[in-house]
Parts: sequence; structure tokens; C-alpha cells
Amino acid sequence: MMEKKLIKIFDTTLRDGEQSPGATLNIQEKIKIARQLKKLNVDVIEAGLPASSPNDFKAVKKIAKEINGPIIAGLARALKPDIDILWEAIKEAKKPRIHIVLGTSEEHLKYKFRRSREEALQMGIEAIKYAKKLCSEIEYSTEDASRSNKDYLFKVIREAIRAGATVINIPDTVGYAVPEEWGKLIARIKEITTTENVLLSVHCHNDLGMAVPNTLIAIKNGADQVECTINGIGERAGNAALEEVVVALKIRPDYFGVTTIINFKEILKTSKMVSSIMGIPVQPNKAIVGANAFAHSSGIHQDGILKDKRTYQIIEPEEIGAAGHKFVLTARSGKHALKHSLEKLGYKFKESETRKIHQHFLEVADKKKEILEADLVAIVEEETAIPREEIYQLDYIQTTGGNKIVPTATVKVKKKGKIIQESACGNGVVDATYRAIDRIANLRFKLVDYSLKSVTGGKDALGEVTVHIKCRDKAVIGRGTSTDIIEASAKAYLNAINRYLATK
Ligand code: KIV
Ligand code: ZN
Repeated sequence: MMEKKLIKIFDTTLRDGEQSPGATLNIQEKIKIARQLKKLNVDVIEAGLPASSPNDFKAVKKIAKEINGPIIAGLARALKPDIDILWEAIKEAKKPRIHIVLGTSEEHLKYKFRRSREEALQMGIEAIKYAKKLCSEIEYSTEDASRSNKDYLFKVIREAIRAGATVINIPDTVGYAVPEEWGKLIARIKEITTTENVLLSVHCHNDLGMAVPNTLIAIKNGADQVECTINGIGERAGNAALEEVVVALKIRPDYFGVTTIINFKEILKTSKMVSSIMGIPVQPNKAIVGANAFAHSSGIHQDGILKDKRTYQIIEPEEIGAAGHKFVLTARSGKHALKHSLEKLGYKFKESETRKIHQHFLEVADKKKEILEADLVAIVEEETAIPREEIYQLDYIQTTGGNKIVPTATVKVKKKGKIIQESACGNGVVDATYRAIDRIANLRFKLVDYSLKSVTGGKDALGEVTVHIKCRDKAVIGRGTSTDIIEASAKAYLNAINRYLATK
């Protein structure tokens, strides 16, 4: 039997994914996600753009030092100072890669760089030659390739290879491509690159909802590497969702005839971790990792599933790390039962960590009769969250509301050991709570978005609130969970304010 081609999975959650509005991570959070990406067994981790900030530089450097296994890449513009900073950040990696990006479309050349095609080409070549003296692995991205003049694009690719690029990445930067046309372009580029010792890569954005189909058609037409993010997060409408791409390849080997080295059992955990740390919820109907991805609700479907799962299910939840059966714990479940359930979910903790999780578990179990698998994941994520500098911590909240009463809230918050208390009225109790917190922080935040979802079903479910707030044009996301939705709302708002203040 012919060996299946191995497609390389390049994860850019920590670079393009972090460009999602409000999703900035601190150093420890980036490292935590990088460790999980290693468990997921991606081939390449793009750890950041070190020239963008001292914190990103430090995070990329730590990841390069610690994470052994995947290639550690970082992004640089085609500028020597960017490349120098990037190299300084990744040079201690066992397998470092310099990733250089430079636009090739008229839109980028004319309006962004104000350079002619020839000038931009020379700039790119110089950058590659300079980087090649530092690192043997050079990836070159022809930004906005899908809108570029194709003859110019092919010329840039040939010259980039001649200058020393080992990976040529073709980005659909603005999500403009459509699958058939994109597939043909990738096939044409494969012809140009096939005699060279280079990998052909694609990087597809989701502006028209076609990032995953475009990525898959590129594989069908010869791409060797695909760039993706967990949950499809990223600039604007995001990037190709890693979990969707790799599971499609796994479920349809008859069509794609390729394979990956991804550890599928880590998919769900990675998705939940990224969502929780970045504060970006996963939509319930999201393919592969959405809460409803394996839920069968209509009578006809349920009947079919009960007779034989194959009637309506093409993916087994266990394949992506979702526990086959939903276990239930209660306040009477001991530490041993909890530990067993945690292990079933793939978590291994030290005794001291298990004790902390058990304590939190008991607090939730006191208010909620049954603790389901999803509750436990939420508890673990909260307990293992990297502590950000918590300037404000919720101490006490009391609200009054109803349809014939002016909603009011009194909030007490701890700041450096001191209690600050404020009260306010609002349109509803959440609004009153947020006005009281604004007074405490002495800042005016704009609430851009507020969403509430229950972690599991039932009236006593844990509520998870996500807020997007803005202050002086800086957007941040915050998240909070509690069995009481007003408390969850206050926690999410304070979490966002703490994140905002941490960026100052
Ligand atoms: O979208 C894009 O073009 C990019 C490049 C840096 C690959 O993110
Ligand atoms: Zn991108």
C-alpha cells in the first residue's frame, strides 16, 4: 500500500489567533497554550511577532526555550530589525524557523508600502538572505497572494526560493479566494515549486466563511503545510479552524488520501483551554468542538442514533477527547471519585492542585445538585487559570430588581487589601452592577458585547458570562462563572477591567 502523504500542521493561535480583538495574552498564558499545542502534536507553533512588544518577545523566547518537539516559528516583517529581534527570541529553540511576510498585491504595494513591484521584490530577497545567515529554516509569506497579479506572484516565489526560503506560504489574507479558483492557483504554484526542496504552505482567512474549504482544496492540490488556529480564531473573521481541517482529513481519507500526526484526543481540551484563556466562547453549532456538535435533538434522529449511531454520526465524540459517557458527581463524591473523573478527562494534577480543585468543586456542588463533565472542565479552567494581576477582586454584591422597582446594585471590591464600596441604579441589575463597578474603577467603560451561556443544562447550571468592553479604543474581553448569573456578570466585568489595567 502506498504511504499516505503527511500534511504538516502549522498552528498560529498564538500569533494570528492572538490578533483577535481583545484576546491579548500574558506570557504565562501563552506558555500554557504552547504546552497544550505540544500535547496536540502540531508540527509548528507560531509563537508570536516578537518585534510587536517586549512582552511578546519574552513570551516567544520562553516558548522557544521550553517547548521541545514542534518547530518554533516567529513572524517578522521584511525588515532587518524585526528579523534580529525575532532571531534573538527563537534562537534557543531546538528547531527554530524565521517567518517573513511581505505583501505582493497592488493594494499592499501601492497603499501600504508605496513601493514598486521590483522594489518590494528586492526588499523581500534581501530580508531572506539576511535571515538565512541566522537560521536555516526560512518561511516566506506572499501576503494577500489571492489578490496579487499572478505573474508577479510566481516571480516572487521563484526569487524567494533562490534566495533561500525553505517554506513558501501562500496567504489568502483577506479571505477573498473561492475554493475552485484557489485550488487551481495552488496546483499552479506546486508545479513551480515541485522541483525545489521547499514546502508549499497555505494560510486562509475566513471573511467569506471559506477558510476551511480553501485549506482543504489546497491540500488536494499539493499543499504540504496548512496554517490554522484553534477554534478558527484570528484577525477579523478568523483563520481556518485547525480541528475542522484535521478531522476532515481523518474522516475522509478516501477523498484526501493524506494524514497528520495530530493527537486527536487532545482536540476538545485544547479548544476549551483556548476559549477560556482568550475569553472567546465557542458557538454551540461550531463543527467538531461546539456544544451541539454531537447532540441529536429531533425524534427521528434520536431514534436513528439509538438503533445505530452510524445513522446520523460520522465522528465519534471519543475521537476528539470528549468522554464517551457523561459522568455525574455530587457534593457527596469524595476526592477519589473526583480524581478518577479528572483522569478520565485527561487531567493529571499534583495532590495540592487536586485539593484546591476539590474545594472549588464542593463549593459549586453545594449550590448545584449534579456536577457534570462540562462543569468540571469549567472548574479546572478557573482553578488553573494563570493569575493575572487581579487589581480588583469581587468581595460582595447585592442587587434588587423587578418590573416595578428601579434596579439597584451595591458592590464591594477588594483593591490591595482595601474594600471599596459603591452603589448605582441602572436599566437592569446587570447595568446597575456595571455602573457601580465603573464608579469603583473611576473609569468609563463601554460595554460592546455581553453574552451569557449555561455551562450545562438544568436550572441550577453554572452560568458563564463573557463581556467585551472598550476604554479609550482598547478592547478587552473578560469572563466569569458562577451559579448566580449576577455574580458571574460582575466577575466577568472585573476580569475585563483587570485585563485592561494589566495592558497599561
Ligand atoms: O494573513 C496573512 O497574510 C498573515 C501572514 C503573516 C501569513 O497572517
Ligand atoms: Zn493571517
